[in-house]
Amino acid sequence: MNRIPLIAGNWKMFKTGSQSVETALSLAELSCDVKDIDIMIAPPFPALALVNEKIRASRIHLGAQNLFYEKAGAYTGEVSAEMLKETGVSYVIIGHSERRQYFGETNESVCRKIRAAVDSALAPVMCIGETEDEKKEEKTFYVLDKQIENGLKGFRSDELSDLVIAYEPVWAIGTGNSATPDQVQQVHRYIRTKIQKFFNRKFAEETRIIYGGSVKPDNISELMAHDDVDGALVGGASLDADNFIKIIKYNRMK
Ligand code: PGA
Repeated sequence: MNRIPLIAGNWKMFKTGSQSVETALSLAELSCDVKDIDIMIAPPFPALALVNEKIRASRIHLGAQNLFYEKAGAYTGEVSAEMLKETGVSYVIIGHSERRQYFGETNESVCRKIRAAVDSALAPVMCIGETEDEKKEEKTFYVLDKQIENGLKGFRSDELSDLVIAYEPVWAIGTGNSATPDQVQQVHRYIRTKIQKFFNRKFAEETRIIYGGSVKPDNISELMAHDDVDGALVGGASLDADNFIKIIKYNRMK
């Protein structure tokens, strides 16, 4: 199955507009010879339009870290899918564990946000994953089932052709303690089988499942060597262009 790998950088609440532009420009230059890999960066909202200006002609896709599901209205502080689209955004991260943890996002709000993304032709990167306690209680698969069933409730598979699922175990994010490649492969296989049962085989085979949680230049090749690992969502190690390009060019490091 020919799934093009996606290596995505989530810059979280780091970098001002000018700092984002500087990193994006370096990355655009460093990545100009990359083939057969989709690259995405998700800077903070105020940097999106500035970065878009600079990377439009490059190989890099622009992503946002969140959106609000309403089209417009009195929702102070929120940003709609259409606003992002017009800024040059083509991917949007939805339901990141930090948003679930600090901003009260639920599987239900994730579902509405995916609907808004799809309606505006933005590719949703839906984040799922268990916490450390859930892992200890052996609830990983139960948690993933609920996140998938409720997050993708009411969709037909043909509406989700751009969907990316990011498996991000919460205990591995920002801790330096990545899941092992074998653990990741096992969970990704489980997610693909779940998607197959929930939708259909073709869709499951075509959907990219990427991994996030302490991905670094020195563990990316091993992760990507597994059949069901279609890319990575990278936080800390994506903030520096020289470091991030090593992850993007993982297949040249062997
Ligand atoms: P990390 O973050 O690479 O810094 O662990 C990943 C993420 O939160 O998407």
